[in-house]
Amino acid sequence: MRSLFVYTLFACFPFIIVSYQTSAEDGCIVKEFEEVDSVINNCKDIILDSLSIPGGKKLILNLNEGTTLTFRGNTSFNFYEWTGPLITISGNNIKVIGGKDSVIDGRGPLWWDGQGPWSSQKPKLFKIQVTNAILDGINIKDCPSLCTIVNGENLVIRNWIIDNLEGDEGVAPENHFAHNTDGINLAIFEPNENVTIENCVIYNQDDCIAIARGKNVTVRNLFCHGSHGLTISGTNSTIEDVLFENSIITMAENGIHVKTHVLDGDGLIKNVVYRNITILDAKNYGISVEQNYLNLPAGQPQDGPPSNHIPIYNLSMQNIYGNVLSGGIPVFILCADEGCFDWKWENVNILGDNQNNNCTGYVPKEYEC
Ligand SMILES: *[C@@H]1O[C@H](CO)[C@@H](O)[C@H](O)[C@H]1NC(C)=O
Ligand SMILES: *[C@@H]1O[C@H](CO)[C@@H](O)[C@H](O)[C@H]1NC(C)=O
Ligand SMILES: *[C@@H]1O[C@H](CO)[C@@H](O)[C@H](O)[C@H]1NC(C)=O
Ligand SMILES: *[C@@H]1O[C@H](CO)[C@@H](O)[C@H](O)[C@H]1NC(C)=O
Ligand SMILES: *[C@@H]1O[C@H](CO)[C@@H](O)[C@H](O)[C@H]1NC(C)=O
Ligand SMILES: *[C@@H]1O[C@H](CO)[C@@H](O)[C@H](O)[C@H]1NC(C)=O
Ligand SMILES: *[C@@H]1O[C@H](CO)[C@@H](O)[C@H](O)[C@H]1NC(C)=O
Repeated sequence: MRSLFVYTLFACFPFIIVSYQTSAEDGCIVKEFEEVDSVINNCKDIILDSLSIPGGKKLILNLNEGTTLTFRGNTSFNFYEWTGPLITISGNNIKVIGGKDSVIDGRGPLWWDGQGPWSSQKPKLFKIQVTNAILDGINIKDCPSLCTIVNGENLVIRNWIIDNLEGDEGVAPENHFAHNTDGINLAIFEPNENVTIENCVIYNQDDCIAIARGKNVTVRNLFCHGSHGLTISGTNSTIEDVLFENSIITMAENGIHVKTHVLDGDGLIKNVVYRNITILDAKNYGISVEQNYLNLPAGQPQDGPPSNHIPIYNLSMQNIYGNVLSGGIPVFILCADEGCFDWKWENVNILGDNQNNNCTGYVPKEYEC
């Protein structure tokens, strides 16, 4: 009794003076999918407790200003062929928390066929459109396709686990690998400004972090396994003032990947820093910077002729260490004519086995390719 009282007191206290129904014990714990809307509308301290979401339905969490929402238990999804997202979160001045031992289980194996979006439709898991928000301790398992798309301003994402290890080649059965399961993707559609992503562990099969649009973005203390690395994905938008630091990338296709999409419109990449990054056992490239990226289905070549319509200015690398596996290229640069400017790379030391570095079209200052 006492613990219930104390709990209720803490849960309500900050909001006790407003007219919302605030206590989780007073009806702000959601246990059935059908109750979500009314609780979201009426509460500011919400617990989603072990929800099972019907196939083809979206968990829409359009939160009131000042809301704290906690995921408790196992939030799980049922099979349906569609593109999702399975969860959308929006709001201003909000806090979203993954409770102790909670999991958001996308149940990816129900969809995975090794083809990503090129065979059947597979839902994205999370779409986050928030301002002045903290999303802390979210624990995601087995995304059917892309795990998280973010559009945020003044946003902190911290202490997340995204565990898609079950979709890895050699772990999942043949023809049932996960594909295109980006970890956290700062998407092109709307601005991302002043976003921090820190202290996260991500096991997946596409970019660990991908930034397609953003200003003042910091990514630090990440551990990425599998993945296509820490990625800047230049499209028809601007990416500027980005820092990636103090992170470890293991068994990735590429540890660090800066790419520009040749088929997209004009864009710009500038003032990007990677520092103190350890890349272990990368398969294809330790660092790959390419101005010729084509996004094609698995197994097809990813390159075309380079193009300078998304120039890359001021790309800095400091203290980047590690190795590539046999057949991998430690450092690969492919710049278009007049495509790359003012890069400075210091203490970049990635060991290769049987392939040399390849810098075509540009060599950074202070770096011997
Ligand atoms: C979550 O619940 C679903 C549906 O019952 C189940 O299939 C899945 O294994 C559970 N996930 C975890 C991590 O317990
Ligand atoms: C950047 O975002 C953080 C976290 O939300 C916030 O504390 C800080 O005030 C923001 N900075 C600016 C200049 O808005
Ligand atoms: C830029 O990001 C840093 C680190 O998150 C934050 O402290 C600062 O307030 C941000 N500045 C602006 C102008 O958003
Ligand atoms: C470099 O990053 C590692 C984590 O990969 C961290 O333990 C270490 O403290 C960082 N070093 C500095 C100088 O920040
Ligand atoms: C540029 O980006 C917008 C989204 O912001 C998209 O709708 C448009 O089709 C893109 N244009 C080109 C040429 O890629
Ligand atoms: C290059 O980028 C760094 C990091 O954002 C910034 O501090 C520096 O001023 C930039 N240099 C130029 C010439 O813009
Ligand atoms: C380096 O890469 C370029 C662009 O992909 C390629 O044309 C060239 O043959 C490569 N050089 C070597 C020595 O492999």
